[in-house]
Amino acid sequence: MSVLVVTGGASGLGRAIAAQAAAEGWTVVLVDRDADALAVAAEELGVASTAVDVTDREALGAAFASIAERLGRIGGLVNSAGLTRPGPSEGLAVDDWKLVIDVDLSGTFYSCQAAFDHLAESASIVNIASIGSTRGLPERVAYSAAKAGVVGLTRALAAEWAPLGIRVNAVGPSWVDTPLVRDLIASGTIDEQQMLDKVPLGRLCTPEDVASSVLFLLGSDKAGYVTGQTLYVDGGYVWAG
Ligand SMILES: NC(=O)c1ccc[n+]([C@@H]2O[C@H](COP(=O)([O-])OP(=O)(O)OC[C@H]3O[C@@H](n4cnc5c(N)ncnc54)[C@H](O)[C@@H]3O)[C@@H](O)[C@H]2O)c1
Repeated sequence: MSVLVVTGGASGLGRAIAAQAAAEGWTVVLVDRDADALAVAAEELGVASTAVDVTDREALGAAFASIAERLGRIGGLVNSAGLTRPGPSEGLAVDDWKLVIDVDLSGTFYSCQAAFDHLAESASIVNIASIGSTRGLPERVAYSAAKAGVVGLTRALAAEWAPLGIRVNAVGPSWVDTPLVRDLIASGTIDEQQMLDKVPLGRLCTPEDVASSVLFLLGSDKAGYVTGQTLYVDGGYVWAG
């Protein structure tokens, strides 16, 4: 199996995707800006890592070049680095708006762009979107805008890079049991029971649910004719009305 780079790999979904990918034989490299958490995750998973902030296009370019030089061309890229700054839209600080757009949207694009020169033939990219890509999430305006943008850039890159054999898809999870969602519950931004009432399958998504879908899209054996799509891993939430 080839090299898989996972941004946001130090925590939550990125880490779960990395664990499942490593178990399936990918040579995984974690990328994250949190050097301490990254070192712990890399040690525990037994994979390589490199500390990079995805908003730094130049640093990403150097990181992908170095990964390709050490381990070979990159067969898979998962963009899971992300954050949110919830709160009433009318009072959202400009710095918070910029941060969320920079990390969740621009960071995803910069990572795809920086990886491009180092991708293997038939490489596959999976961007982590959200139910906020297609549904209105109150008090998460920057996050919703960024994640809608992730779906847009996924479609555009899929169309542009398909002739080169590169597939680009997205996975849109609903509320996953990760530190990000636990923080939103703790801060009162979302109510756990109200959230579960909206999910037809009646439970929170697990990181492993997301990882399985990401691994499906990464693999050209099963998803070789799938590109430009966003797969909502949401227990039925998005289309439940
Ligand atoms: N948890 C959920 O319920 C949920 C639902 C839908 C989508 N998502 C998306 O999944 C992705 C991962 O979320 P998570 O729940 O695992 O969160 P998390 O906070 O557990 O992990 C996010 C990781 O991204 C890293 N990161 C943040 N900013 C970065 C930057 N500028 N450069 C490099 N790394 C950076 C963090 O250090 C962290 O390790 C995010 O894009 C999030 O929007 C999460």
